[in-house]
Parts: sequence; C-alpha cells; structure tokens
Amino acid sequence: MTDIVSELRAGATISDVLRAQQSYHEYRRWSTDELFDGRRLDRPAPEDRAALWHAARAELTTQPAGIRLAVDGVKLAHELRESNPLGADVLHIAAAWSARYWLEEEAHHEVSFGRLMEMAGVDPIGHDEVVDHRGPFPTDNYARVCVLQACVEIEACVSYGFVSRTTEDPLVRDVFHTVMKDEVQHRQYFVSFAKALVESGVYPLKDVLSMAYTWIRPDGGETYGSSREAQTDRQGYVNWWEHLRGGEEEFGLGDVALHEGSVHSRKLSSVFALVREATGIAVTSYEDLKRAYFASLRTNDVDRIRSAVRRGAEKEAALAR
Ligand SMILES: [Fe+2]
Ligand SMILES: [Fe+2]
Repeated sequence: MTDIVSELRAGATISDVLRAQQSYHEYRRWSTDELFDGRRLDRPAPEDRAALWHAARAELTTQPAGIRLAVDGVKLAHELRESNPLGADVLHIAAAWSARYWLEEEAHHEVSFGRLMEMAGVDPIGHDEVVDHRGPFPTDNYARVCVLQACVEIEACVSYGFVSRTTEDPLVRDVFHTVMKDEVQHRQYFVSFAKALVESGVYPLKDVLSMAYTWIRPDGGETYGSSREAQTDRQGYVNWWEHLRGGEEEFGLGDVALHEGSVHSRKLSSVFALVREATGIAVTSYEDLKRAYFASLRTNDVDRIRSAVRRGAEKEAALAR
C-alpha cells in the first residue's frame, strides 16, 4: 500500500491498512532455518567475508531505529489527534509497521548474516560491540527519519545486490539476495510514510527534500560515510555507514563496492526516485535536488518547486551552450 492518504481518505481505517500490512508480511516471510538447512559455504572469497563483516554490523543498528520510530510515532499521533486526525492515523500506521514488521524482518537479517559470518570463519561480533550498536536512536523530525531510513535501505539494497551478483558462493548469493528483497520493500514503506506525512500536512515538503539532499550532497553527504573528512559526534547511536572499511584495511571493501561505478550511481538514482515518489517532484541529478530543496525553503507548493527545478536546469543548459 503505497498511497496511504488516498486509502484513508477513501474510507479505510487504521485496522484496514494494518490488515493489508499483515497479509503482505505473511506472504513474503521466509525462514532463516530453511534458508540455511543442510547448506555449507563453498568458496567465501575475501570480498564476501568483507561484505559480511559490514552487513552483520549494519543490521544490528536497525533495532534501536525501529524502537524509536514505534515509540515516537505513537507519541506524535496522540499529540495530533485533535488537530490533524488524518496525520495521526498515518503515524499510527507507520509506528505499527515499524514495531511489528520492520523489527521482525530486520531480526531475520541480523541472524542470517551472523550465521553466515560464523560459517565463513569470521569472528563473531563481540559483546561490547553488539551493545554499542544498540545505542539509542535519537528523536528527530519523523518525516526526516523516514527519508533517512529509506536512504539507509537503499544503501543496503544496492550493497547486498552487488554481493549477490558478484559472489561465486551459492549460499552467500542466496542469503544476500533474500535479504536484499526485504530491503527493497522497506525502502518502499519508508517512502510511503514520508509521502503520507507530507500529504496529510504533518510536515512540509522541505523536510523530505532536506534529508535527501543531506544524504547525497557531494560535499560531505551521508552516503559518503566513512570517506568524509569529519564525522559528527553521534552520542550513543552508531551510523554504520560512517564506519565502512576501505580496501587497505582488514575486511575492507573495494572502491567498486563503495563510491564508484554502478554501485554509487544506483544509490543516487534510487534516491532521486525516492524524492519523486514521496513528493511528486521529478529530479534526476544532484543539482535538480538542490534546486528543489532550496525552493522548498521558500514555498511548500509542489508546482512552484517543480518550476524552480525546471528553470534552474534551463538556465544551466543555456550557460553551457
Ligand atoms: Fe536489513
Ligand atoms: Fe531493511
């Protein structure tokens, strides 16, 4: 269900939407025991082991984010109950999905990568590191967090997809591919929540655009994670993408798996698609997104932001001639 506000306006109740979520969840569920049943690792290459080292840690950090979205969603829904009942329903739906399905599905990922890492002879994540990765997720603007999580799911989708395409080991391929398919759905859910929060008037367009912009801006965007010169002090929460290891380190990832070539361009194009899906504003480059974001600081009108993007692109093309 990608158009929550239309469904609610057409008469759907919170329970109707949650029933659709439950059906979809049941339809898509898979079992870690069945995935691993009787299987062995044949040829875990150094790149496979490096990818596992990262994926296992990344998955640990979804639990605190899921708890935060569940708790804060309900809290905000109660605050908006009188002033914006439609927005309050959207928040109840997002909070329930986070508490029920997102957390449960991410548990599958955490356990799967943990098992695979053990089979590949990579040391298990130590107690203190596990505890560190459960640091509390901070409270922030709910729409921005939905966009942030959509971007994080994109990182996971693209990275896991890359491993599943390049590995020579059938079990590594199946595990990464299976998890990747869940991450695609998670991205979609977060985009639908961000869209619904804007459409129901809980947050303006600028909150969606600012987070997407913050994620990909070439001068220090979040997607550049560990390669940035300065890292922000996170006070308890671990942003796993700030701890990616490069090629020269133990379990380091090569440039092709990080910020070069097809992996990087897939991440960017998926963020542009996210913006279009959540706001209805078409952007196909970082420059477009910047124009859209800057225009959204002056207006919340979709058409005016669209025309600012178009005018900016035309001006740039004229200057290039
Ligand atoms: Fe995951
Ligand atoms: Fe996910």
